[in-house]
Amino acid sequence: MKEIRIAIIGCGMISHRHMTVIENLKKRGQALKVVAAAEIDKAKLDAFGAQYGLPADCLYQDFREMLKRDDIDEVEVCVHNNLHTSVSTAVMAAGFDCYSEKPMAASYADAKILYDAQKKYGKKLAVQISSIYNPQTRIAKKMIAEGKLGKIYHVRSVGHRRQGRPGYDMPFFSHDFISPTVGVHGPLFDLGIYHIAQMLYVLGMPELESVYGFQSCDYWTHPAIDKLVNRTAPVEDLGVGMARFKGGICMDIYEDWAIHMEDIGCSFVVGSLGGLKFLDVDQTGGPMAVPEGGTIVGGGDLQKPRLVYYGVNEDNQLFETKLDCAIGDVTGQQELLIHPEMAMYNDNQLQWYSYLRGDLTDETRVDSPYIAMQTAFLSEGVVLSSELGRSVTADEIRAMSKSIAIREQETPFGVIKFDFDDYKA
Ligand SMILES: NC(=O)c1ccc[n+]([C@@H]2O[C@H](COP(=O)([O-])OP(=O)(O)OC[C@H]3O[C@@H](n4cnc5c(N)ncnc54)[C@H](O)[C@@H]3O)[C@@H](O)[C@H]2O)c1
Repeated sequence: MKEIRIAIIGCGMISHRHMTVIENLKKRGQALKVVAAAEIDKAKLDAFGAQYGLPADCLYQDFREMLKRDDIDEVEVCVHNNLHTSVSTAVMAAGFDCYSEKPMAASYADAKILYDAQKKYGKKLAVQISSIYNPQTRIAKKMIAEGKLGKIYHVRSVGHRRQGRPGYDMPFFSHDFISPTVGVHGPLFDLGIYHIAQMLYVLGMPELESVYGFQSCDYWTHPAIDKLVNRTAPVEDLGVGMARFKGGICMDIYEDWAIHMEDIGCSFVVGSLGGLKFLDVDQTGGPMAVPEGGTIVGGGDLQKPRLVYYGVNEDNQLFETKLDCAIGDVTGQQELLIHPEMAMYNDNQLQWYSYLRGDLTDETRVDSPYIAMQTAFLSEGVVLSSELGRSVTADEIRAMSKSIAIREQETPFGVIKFDFDDYKA
């Protein structure tokens, strides 16, 4: 098996999850080697090098210097949202395949620029969307494609935290999550990608017609909260939307980081013959993200995704069937016993390495860049509609979306200028 030589850009929290997955995959026979890392913060860079045994000549503050190496096969981009397009297009322009963190970008225009960069530079790209790499998503997608739910007419995409704004209520998360220029958006883009992308993917990527959206920053204005930081609403705390797709499907979207409410339900898909409820949707990366003897970086338990299938039998009796479909559960284990190759569909990073090796092709891999870009398209519709106070059509989203990705970044060693294409609607 050919060794894949990996470089990491951004040595913050999520880079450690990448390293955990790499370690776990190596223990399962994957030939992987992290050969270099780049991080603008020198202390973080040195700590990363010390933790993973990377010598000083493999550590770079300026990722552009690292990209001059000739021993890198692919680069994993772990910087924050509004730098994904900036850094990932630079990686591909320098001649490397690229695995980029989620969300794909902070606007549809930027997601499209990054998507198009694959073709422009002839390089491979993947975007992290952990919710779609497990039996829960696959079983639902197959059932829908086979018509088990009949004609699909309504879908709900839900994500909720009682009080969990990263970088604020969860201070161990980077403050960049709530920076208007770096994180840019609240929960809609942050955790929303896991839920919206999962729903779009199981439906077979339906074509968006229009969307009505509403975003709010009002949770931040609670006086007890405001007193603590003397600051209000850096980014939204709630995003809701109602989208209409070709074929008569509507999707309501509900994504919050903090709200004075406990249970707001979960994602589901309903059709004329049946319905599917999605429980414990994966947002933490599955079993490979769990370090040996430890817990998943950033907190959060290993999620065990489940489905509940609702319908009516021939005698008009209502049925409700629970499907345990986590990778480690019986369903997941049985699938792997019969089809060991499905392991390539159970983990974001393993899927990426399998694609790089040619074990998966453009046809057989999950097209995460396309799914992530369409998710950004719908999410931007919610944002634009909320700003305009009216619904927006797909054509309007395409016409109004703007590139906002960072083109000049201040760093401890000077300004990095990013040079990438302009967006064309
Ligand atoms: N933290 C999580 O649990 C988590 C989970 C899934 C996805 N993500 C995604 O991963 C991304 C990063 O999140 P994070 O929590 O690791 O943030 P973080 O702030 O901890 O890490 C980002 C790192 O990138 C570095 N950086 C910025 N610009 C750089 C540049 N030009 N070159 C090199 N390094 C640079 C920063 O100094 C920082 O250390 C976000 O887009 C987030 O949505 C995070």
